[in-house]
Amino acid sequence: MDQDGQDLTARVVASFGVAPEPRTREVLEAVTRHLHALVRELRPTQREWAQAVDFLTAVGHMCDDTRQEFVMLSDVLGVSSLVEVVNGDPESTEGTVLGPFHQTGSPPRALGESIDLVGTGTPCVVTGRVTDSTGAPVPGASVDVWQCDDHGFYDVQQPGVQPQGNGRGLFTADAQGAFRFRTVVPSHYPIPTDGPVGRLLTAAHRHPYRPAHVHLMVAAPGFRTLTTHLFVAGSPYLDGDAVFAVRPGLVVDFAEVSDAAQAAVHGVDTPFRHADVTVRLAGPKEATR
Ligand code: BEZ
Ligand code: FE
Repeated sequence: MDQDGQDLTARVVASFGVAPEPRTREVLEAVTRHLHALVRELRPTQREWAQAVDFLTAVGHMCDDTRQEFVMLSDVLGVSSLVEVVNGDPESTEGTVLGPFHQTGSPPRALGESIDLVGTGTPCVVTGRVTDSTGAPVPGASVDVWQCDDHGFYDVQQPGVQPQGNGRGLFTADAQGAFRFRTVVPSHYPIPTDGPVGRLLTAAHRHPYRPAHVHLMVAAPGFRTLTTHLFVAGSPYLDGDAVFAVRPGLVVDFAEVSDAAQAAVHGVDTPFRHADVTVRLAGPKEATR
């Protein structure tokens, strides 16, 4: 008698024992053990299992070049955030989820240039510096920035409404590792809910909102590329991010500035908001596998 399918599980695990690549073997054996344990715990009916397959099929059908519903599923289940946590390096600024709105090939912009191509919203200046784990500057680091507008939409969500490249810029830090750009304060916003992940949130009575944030991807030769966020202090949903990406150390004061001299330095009118950040990069991890 195969008590609760334990013998079946052991046979499936053993079937992967012949996989020649050790990591492939480890992954397939662990996936088998955990999936079988899930089935033993939940005891799905045939109908429920078919519904699960239909759900994952719908997630796949929702994916195309500009929409990655599987990434969003991983996001709302907290798995994307957990992958960041297990890969975190205590020497570096904390990483957070990439999200679905990053575009490769952000428009290159000069330091101080505006990523806001529309002109509505609260003017804002972001200044920062990229350092190594000892605090020494990393000259020439690339700082890829993307954010939604003051109504909570990314340019790719509103083609024909927002100009392409609005809210995006690729900056190169100067010889002191410093960078700066002008923008508008982003809004909090809902993640897209018109697909199966939205139906999952509705079924769970969970809201889809993310607190206001600016995305940063910072890279330099000899360092681990860091994908992170600046969260706007005081934003709604800081304590209930739909994708679990908030880390206290990433919440930044977007302070109101009324000083005309400071405004002149950055080429903005008063009052404006100013966020200042230090981004620490860690050296490359030893390849362990
Ligand atoms: C974002 O911040 O762009 C995002 C992250 C996860 C899911 C949806 C959007
Ligand atoms: Fe975002």
